[in-house]
Amino acid sequence: MTEQNTLTVRDNRTGEEYEIPITDGTVRATDLGQIGRAEGTPGLAVYDPGFTNTASTRSAVTYIDGDKGILEYRGYPIEQLAEKSTYLEVAYLLIHGELPTKEQHEQWVHDITFHTFVHENLKSFMQGFRYDAHPMSMLMSSVSALSSFYPEASRIKDPEVRHEQIVRLIAKMPTLGAWSFRHAQGKPYVYPDNDLSYPENFLSMLFKMSEQKYDPDPRLAKALDVLFILHADHEQNCSTNAVRSVGSSQVDPYSSVTAGIAALYGPLHGGANEAVLRMLKRIGKKENIPAFIEGVKNGDEKLMGFGHRVYKNYDPRATIIKKACDDVFEVTGVNPLLEIAQELERIALEDDYFVSRKLYPNVDFYSGLIYEALQFPPEMFTVLFAIPRTSGWLAQWLELVDDKEQKIARPKQIYTGDRQLTYVPQSERWA
Ligand code: CMC
Repeated sequence: MTEQNTLTVRDNRTGEEYEIPITDGTVRATDLGQIGRAEGTPGLAVYDPGFTNTASTRSAVTYIDGDKGILEYRGYPIEQLAEKSTYLEVAYLLIHGELPTKEQHEQWVHDITFHTFVHENLKSFMQGFRYDAHPMSMLMSSVSALSSFYPEASRIKDPEVRHEQIVRLIAKMPTLGAWSFRHAQGKPYVYPDNDLSYPENFLSMLFKMSEQKYDPDPRLAKALDVLFILHADHEQNCSTNAVRSVGSSQVDPYSSVTAGIAALYGPLHGGANEAVLRMLKRIGKKENIPAFIEGVKNGDEKLMGFGHRVYKNYDPRATIIKKACDDVFEVTGVNPLLEIAQELERIALEDDYFVSRKLYPNVDFYSGLIYEALQFPPEMFTVLFAIPRTSGWLAQWLELVDDKEQKIARPKQIYTGDRQLTYVPQSERWA
């Protein structure tokens, strides 16, 4: 009798049948390799560009149910964390797998706070960039440079060394991000203020001028902290996959995180909120919305900030961000584009085109409005994503390093090129 948790495969090329075990709703690609394998020929492989139906790892960090609109970090619903926790506590949770005790929390916050400074040479390195350098490019290069300041980071099997680099990275990201922002404005870099909380200190490094001490608005600091929590992890997305793939070579965590920043820099990943803002500005006023929606339905363009590969329901992060908008606009004044965004959402959610395709607002639909109200130029938006995502990348990197099943990432290919050509020397080819 056939085992119940198996897949029976009949290879019609040979008539042979194979029984493949099913575990956790997956079959192992290597088990398929026995199919059709004959002397000198490879067995069956799977072809999956973009990994749309391939699990690359087991992970206990983040759970998403896209149909139900659920996002949990280490089992805790994102809504509860955003309302009641802080970004640094969430970072601890992601890295350590459980919430900290009071003592652990104090130690963690202390350690992160006291690693916010960077080596002066790194400051000179950043100052060497052109005046109009993209802040993501500056962030990426300076994180990469950090690995040269901490050569011991290459000892990735040593838990203490690993922990120290994790603290350093989470601590220094706001410093490097803020300095890349100040650089573009020709303003002096502001050193960290260890009396302030993580989001307050970030605001201080971004906006402090000649005052003795920067006095951040607690509502803005809270809103920023909530945005950080929402962006901390999102399971095996493009940048996390980049971190894991590069990390599988056993390189140091600075180099792996640099790969994550590079992936996030791309417009299909971290850049959508910028596109939303441009779209809202182009629509300009509410009266133009119906014509815009018609254009979307005719396939002229996309409604940016809508739709998601995984969420086929309201992105839970979008609901929380919508609420955070109110808090920020209380301080900054309402962003006039909010009215257009809300009306766009209302119309789209009643329209069969969007309803039938399960297209709902995603995390990027409202976040750009907040960032703009906080006076960030669009180039900074992805930096604001990279800073909190660092804790998620590192949690996933730690999982990878300790996972006995993981190997160096090395996909197969289906070769489509020529074979066995005969090289003709230049003198003959060009004669
Ligand atoms: N506006 C209009 N139509 C859309 C949109 C949209 N934003 N998104 C999807 N569709 C349509 C698409 O044309 C297709 O229609 P049809 O079946 O008639 O061909 C259908 O909905 C299914 O779309 P898909 O392209 O197969 O979906 P996907 O999972 O490959 O793409 C997506 C997901 C996020 C790339 C896409 O929804 C999109 O381009 N959205 C706009 C960009 C955006 O907001 N990106 C931010 C994503 S959230 C950030 C993150 O977590 O990284």
